[in-house]
Amino acid sequence: MKDAAPQTFYLSDYTPFGYEVRDVALRFVLSPSATRVHSRITFAPNPAASDKTFFLHGEQLKLIRAAINGAEVTPNITPEGLTCDVPDSEFVWEAEVEIAPAENTALEGLYMSNGMYCTQCEAEGFRKITYYPDRPDVMSTFTVRIESDLPIMLSNGNPGETGAGYAEWHDPWPKPAYLFALVAGDLVGHADTFTTKSGNQVDLNIWVRPGDEDKCAFGMQALKDSMKWDEDVYGREYDLNTFNIVAVDDFNMGAMENKGLNIFNSSCVLASPATSTDANFERIEAIIAHEYFHNWTGNRITCRDWFQLCLKEGLTVFRDAQFTSDMRGEAVKRIHDVIELRARQFPEDQGPLSHPVRPEQFQEINNFYTATVYEKGAEVIGMLKRLVGDDAYAKALDLYFDRHDGQACTIEDWLTVFEDATGRDLAQFKRWYSQSGTPRLSVTDSYQDGTYTLTFKQSTPPTPGQMVKDPKVIPIAVGLLGPNGDEVQPTVTLEMTDAEQSFAFDGLGSKPIPSILRGFSAPVVLDRDTSAEERAFLLAHDTDPFNRWEANRELARTTLIAMIRDDAAPDEAWLEGLERVITDTTLDANYRALMMSGPSQSELAQTLHEMGITPDPDAIWTASDRLGQTMAERWEAHLPGLLAESTVTEAYRPDSHQAGQRALGAAVLALQTRLDRGASARAQFETADNMTLQLSALTCLVRSGNDEEALSSFAAQWKDDRLVMDKWFGMQIAATLPDRAADRAKALTEHPAFDWKNPNRFRAVFGSLSMNHAGFHRADGASYDLLADWLITLDDKNPQTTARMCSAFQTWKRYDAGRKAKMQAALERIQGKDGLSRDTAEMVGRILS
Ligand code: PHE
Ligand code: ZN
Repeated sequence: MKDAAPQTFYLSDYTPFGYEVRDVALRFVLSPSATRVHSRITFAPNPAASDKTFFLHGEQLKLIRAAINGAEVTPNITPEGLTCDVPDSEFVWEAEVEIAPAENTALEGLYMSNGMYCTQCEAEGFRKITYYPDRPDVMSTFTVRIESDLPIMLSNGNPGETGAGYAEWHDPWPKPAYLFALVAGDLVGHADTFTTKSGNQVDLNIWVRPGDEDKCAFGMQALKDSMKWDEDVYGREYDLNTFNIVAVDDFNMGAMENKGLNIFNSSCVLASPATSTDANFERIEAIIAHEYFHNWTGNRITCRDWFQLCLKEGLTVFRDAQFTSDMRGEAVKRIHDVIELRARQFPEDQGPLSHPVRPEQFQEINNFYTATVYEKGAEVIGMLKRLVGDDAYAKALDLYFDRHDGQACTIEDWLTVFEDATGRDLAQFKRWYSQSGTPRLSVTDSYQDGTYTLTFKQSTPPTPGQMVKDPKVIPIAVGLLGPNGDEVQPTVTLEMTDAEQSFAFDGLGSKPIPSILRGFSAPVVLDRDTSAEERAFLLAHDTDPFNRWEANRELARTTLIAMIRDDAAPDEAWLEGLERVITDTTLDANYRALMMSGPSQSELAQTLHEMGITPDPDAIWTASDRLGQTMAERWEAHLPGLLAESTVTEAYRPDSHQAGQRALGAAVLALQTRLDRGASARAQFETADNMTLQLSALTCLVRSGNDEEALSSFAAQWKDDRLVMDKWFGMQIAATLPDRAADRAKALTEHPAFDWKNPNRFRAVFGSLSMNHAGFHRADGASYDLLADWLITLDDKNPQTTARMCSAFQTWKRYDAGRKAKMQAALERIQGKDGLSRDTAEMVGRILS
């Protein structure tokens, strides 16, 4: 256990810093174990602040020298930073500190990866580089000089003077320290240019390790598409002469939006058909867009404090989702997002880690880069847009950029912009930011004399620290269908504001069939006792593609739950309806693939939990497996035709059309494998000329248990490609039979290529283990123990990734007594570790509470 009680930070305690920063000049003399950082910072008293304590954050720094206006000073130093007496008018602070990037395994601050220097400062990493007011509301221009003998030296802003052994950079846009970045290494660039709509030419570059230069073209195109899209859709232009992206192998997260110098986990930027799947391509495109869009939503307008994280993240996720919809199709993107939301955000929001989209307290901010802040944060913006309408949304965004450019803002600022632009009162809407938990929406209907009435009730179960919930504004998109399938009421958005509320539709000739929560218009759990016939009708006729998919999903869920609970047979009528959909060649292949993939095992566990039933992972696995077998046998005659139809004959392109065909092919191959014991999968594996086909075939072989040969030939082929080997490590654990998962994971930790200090490799093994639902929840607790052992090991080196992965245990309370006790013991073992990091201590403490 920790010796000192950890400090908790509260939103309500906000006060501005006592000093403004007028300008920052940094000089880095790079060396692996003794880098010197010289800073020269102009401070001036902040007239808006009453507390004039001069406190600079600083952690793990060796102070060599400090001076104020040229005279040496001796500050008072603690493990968190320093205080010092300072003049009461503008002054120049200078410091020289020494740091050891080669020893930095936490990957925060300045660290090294394969001989390359790189930084990660969000949220609070800059304080590991030098003494500074490391808080997002302190913004300044930066000038940086880097000295080393490495060929490529990069920082934020525009390039300045460069000579033998040094490079200078100047960023004219005031920014908080978390957006600072520096990179130095032996890198090769993939260059291009973009001309903004006002005619500025921007030099673009993607910097990678030698050998990776053939994997940059796709990312570059995605960058240019993003730049154009932000001009066209949001009127936002790029604002520097240069935009650099760097790929780094050791990175805790996906990517980082540092001003003019985005740093990417190499898995989120490097792409080629031979080594990346269609899903990788789509994700890379989205992340490049996301980081680029931050240039306005995050960088030009930033957050006042870390409680406001959703101000930039929710909005930027919303924007990247709009971009992907435009690039690849709206319905499929929406369905993917809702699947993810239910898989990751719903469990979080309904368990011990539940927190508001804008949290009000934290111990370690790194623990709040969550699905709630990001994905629910984006859902909240989607609801706002739906409520005010597209034109008002556009007007409000223009006002936001206009009013707040160059500022560090709050959610209040954001909502005020919408109130001013629309005249609407958003006080009740704001509850979406302050109340945690997933609302439940139940609905009943009635029909009389041509009037159809829908009555909704909303309630939100209590969450940690929030026992009572007030009703929220819920936008409920509804359409009505007539008995012949014609739409008699096109989509309207009902605005629910009360705990219980009715909405009437007049002038209907007969009782309609309602299509409720179209497009998943609010992140809620919808409870409706709908008959199977009505759902089947929606599956056949709904004009809203999301709800048509949802009807199928509901039917699949209902059948699976009956199979799990009562050992029922799969629902015949549903399977017939689904058969019509998957063989309907007028439908998009992507959409048909989504129809074929039923709810995952963890989604079923989540649904059972929402129904108040203890999920049994083995029963869930058995039912899912049985349903797959039923489908395979039932559709045996269709499978070869579907496989042929989904075969792409043109050269590989990572676009949504081809990706859809391959996704359909993968779903069909999974069924075919059940019938031919892997013959088709093996054939595909042997002839595949792209990673999507190769990996989907290998996944089928792993699932069938007949995989040794294919796994070793795959490893032999790809042993030198780090990112492909991450897939190899991950997929064989994720897809294997449940009783083999823990042993496989354990064996793979003994593999010579298991580099556990690399977050991608660690996650490949343990993220995949936690995703193999029945395998993770093996009744004897083998997976729990293995994960706990490794989290204890990793915590010393990398607290951030350790803490994040503790969430594998977040659902522990919903399982049976045996599993629960074993998970609790595993968590307590982590908690009891000597010198546990603040990150992990907070996570485990919250999960156990
Ligand atoms: N701000 C990054 C993003 O959303 C995520 C991130 C957070 C990366 C913290 C690194 C560290 O794009
Ligand atoms: Zn982001």
